[in-house]
Formats: sequence, C-alpha cells, structure tokens
Amino acid sequence: MPRTEDKYIVALDIGTSKVCVLVGEIGDRGQLEIIGKGTAPMKGTRRGNIINLDQGIDAVKKAVDEAEVMAGLQIDSVYVGVAGDHIRSVNSRGVVSVMGKHKEVSREDIDRVIEASKSINIPGELELLHVIPREFVVDGQDGIHDPLGMTATRLEANVHIVTGARTHNQNILTCVNRAGIAVQELVLEQLAAAECTLTQDEREMGVLLMDIGGGTTDYAVFLEGNVVHTNVLPVGAGHFTSDISVVLRTPMEDAERIKKRYGCALGSLVTEDDPIEVPTVGGRAPKILSKHELTNILEPRAAEIAKLVYRDLEKVGLDKEIRSGVVLVGGGAEMDGMIEIVEQVFDQSARKGTPRGLGGLSDTVNGPEWTAAAGLLLWGYRAQSKVKKQPVRGLAKVAQSFRSLFAGG
Ligand SMILES: Nc1ncnc2c1ncn2[C@@H]1O[C@H](COP(=O)(O)OP(=O)(O)OP(=O)(O)O)[C@@H](O)[C@H]1O
Ligand SMILES: [Mg+2]
Repeated sequence: MPRTEDKYIVALDIGTSKVCVLVGEIGDRGQLEIIGKGTAPMKGTRRGNIINLDQGIDAVKKAVDEAEVMAGLQIDSVYVGVAGDHIRSVNSRGVVSVMGKHKEVSREDIDRVIEASKSINIPGELELLHVIPREFVVDGQDGIHDPLGMTATRLEANVHIVTGARTHNQNILTCVNRAGIAVQELVLEQLAAAECTLTQDEREMGVLLMDIGGGTTDYAVFLEGNVVHTNVLPVGAGHFTSDISVVLRTPMEDAERIKKRYGCALGSLVTEDDPIEVPTVGGRAPKILSKHELTNILEPRAAEIAKLVYRDLEKVGLDKEIRSGVVLVGGGAEMDGMIEIVEQVFDQSARKGTPRGLGGLSDTVNGPEWTAAAGLLLWGYRAQSKVKKQPVRGLAKVAQSFRSLFAGG
C-alpha cells in the first residue's frame, strides 16, 4: 500500500464529540482532491481537552483505519487540529537592524525579526503554537506584507502569537503517536477552518470566524489579510443540550435529539407551534412542550455566546473592524436562528461557512462536522507548497522547535 508522502496530506480533527480524518491527494495539476475519510465517536475529551487517553487513542485509530481503507493508503503522518479553553493569543512586535548586503532586506533578516518578536514572556505552562506575521514595518513604512529585497536600515515585524497549554499539546501528541502516527504540525482549529471557508476579500475587509463546537466556541478575527485576534469561549452547542436536559428534566440523549430536531435560537423566528413530546426521567409520563417554550430555553444561551464574543472584540477594539461580517461554522451553526441572533448582536451580516477549494469527494464533507478537517487539509497543502517538509515521526520536530524558542527567550 502507498504511504503518506509529499503527494498525500492527512488531516486529523479531534473534537469534543468525534474524531474526523480526511485524506487528500495532490493531483497532476497540483489540485487537492479528497480521496478518503474516516470518523469515530469521541468520549475522551471535554471542552477540547483529552481526559481519557485510551479512549482518545482508540477513536483516532478507528477513524484512521476507516480513512486508510477508503483511500487505499497507509497513513503515517497527519496535521492535527488543536482547540480548547487553554488557548491564548497575543500580538507582539520585533525589531532588528537590516544586515543584508547593501542594506537590502534578506531572508535571514526576516527570520531574525520574527525570532525577535517571539521573545515575550510566556508562562512556563504554555508553549508557542503559531507565530504569524501580520505586517512588516520597513524604516517606519508600515503595512508591508513582503519586505524581501527592500532597502532599509530598520525592520520591524508585527506578529500574532498563539500559545497552548504544554500538557494539553503533549496529550494530543501522545494520543496520536500511540495510535502509531507522527504529527506534522499542530494547527489551531479556527485558523484551519478559516483556510477553507473565508474568501480573500473577507479577510482583507475584516471578518470574524466563529466555530461553535460541542464544548467551546473558537473564534478568529482577520483584517487586512491576516489573523489579528484569536480566542476561545468555554461555551458551545453542548450547553444547549445540557440546558434543555436541566430545565425539562429529560435525559441528555433526548435533550440532544430535541435540540437538533426542533431547536431555534431566536424566538421571533418561531411561527408554527406544534407540540413537542419530551420524555422524562423515572418512568413518569412524557411532558408536552411548545416550540416557543423550547426557544425560551435556547435563546438566552445563544445570545450569551454571541454577546461574549462581541464584548471580547469590543475589548480589543475590533468590533468596528469586521466589515464583512461573521462566518459561522461548527455544529452549533446548524441550529435554526443562530445566524440571525449573531446578526442581531453584532449588527452585521452573518453567513454559514462551508468548505470550499477542495476537489474529489468534497461533496461528502459538506457537513459542519468536516469543516475543521477540510481546513486542516488545505493548511497542510499550503504549508507543503511553501516548503517541502519531511514528516518527522513522534514528538521530535515539535518539541525541538519549542525548545529552541524558549532557549532564546
Ligand atoms: N442541527 C443542529 N442544531 C443544534 N445543534 C447541533 C446541530 N447539529 C449539531 N449540533 C451540535 O453541535 C455540536 C457538535 O459540533 P461540532 O461537530 O462542531 O463539535 P466538535 O468539533 O466535536 O466539538 P469542539 O469543536 O467543541 O471540540 C454538538 O453539541 C451538536 O449537538
Ligand atoms: Mg470542532
């Protein structure tokens, strides 16, 4: 059987509720086609954090096996999504003197200024996941995307730094490695989802990507083409289920079913009022509920999610900057009224994001549960087209790059 090499890219998304694997093949014309997928239910995570390693390993193995059979390929390295409430992000800045010949900015100067921007104080329990250049400033001239070859004496870089908890990242690596697979790169999930759902225009004008997952709502703001803010809210679509379960005293499975079938996040959208039968615990007779009553349970939570994200953008001064609106992904975006309530809170247009830019079996991965994996695939594809990287088995590569970062700062 062929193995994953330069021609294939594999994405692994470990969510709160399931593990998804996608296999992509780079075709003769350089296009990325999906040739396999696999999925397995996941019980070993809570809010994006692995809480049971064995269950995590089993789920990864199962999803990978399924994808291997479908793609006819032995998977030995993957791009893995990272999410969860341990993620922190910060903007930072680095400055260096230009050392290149004739004061022309060289590749080394660019590497040095990015290196310099990493020297911020990061608490010991955190480690760097991404250092993404937002813009370069060349002798005071800002807004430069690629300073290579420009003449200058002083080079500055404004970067967006994403960190994750060391222990969390280690658990993910252990989980994937114990399933017999190497990790090519850990990628923040909302950045991956952005790869396949946002247009270049949206990124330029300013856009908020919100991934309403099972346990968390992960989001990222893009402006002038680059990510400028990322954050995670420890509230997700699973909270709708627990709210229903608590208020109606109905088992979680029934609450989940009712949410998906009848749930609506905005009362003013509910027109018909067919009665909903709600099973109760302890063998009592089922309750009868109207759709309005159900929405009364869901709307405050939906508004809470939208408002908390909005307030965070206000806090960092980005609420007025998202001129092309909000793009929603993740299972929570499937609920009726979610788009509308986000539009109300943000006073901006919102739309649902679906994966684009993929060929092959791409129509079979249109559901929201595949967005993160599809984005990881595109992330890997773009990363591999930039540099021909050799996958490294195990922790070596990631651990090494973190170590060199912390040795310097
Ligand atoms: N039609 C729907 N209406 C309401 N909620 C839905 C719908 N479809 C899916 N969900 C909810 O979306 C959540 C799962 O979303 P998703 O698949 O994006 O999560 P995940 O990736 O496993 O979790 P996370 O990203 O938090 O780790 C579950 O809570 C599920 O009940
Ligand atoms: Mg997810």
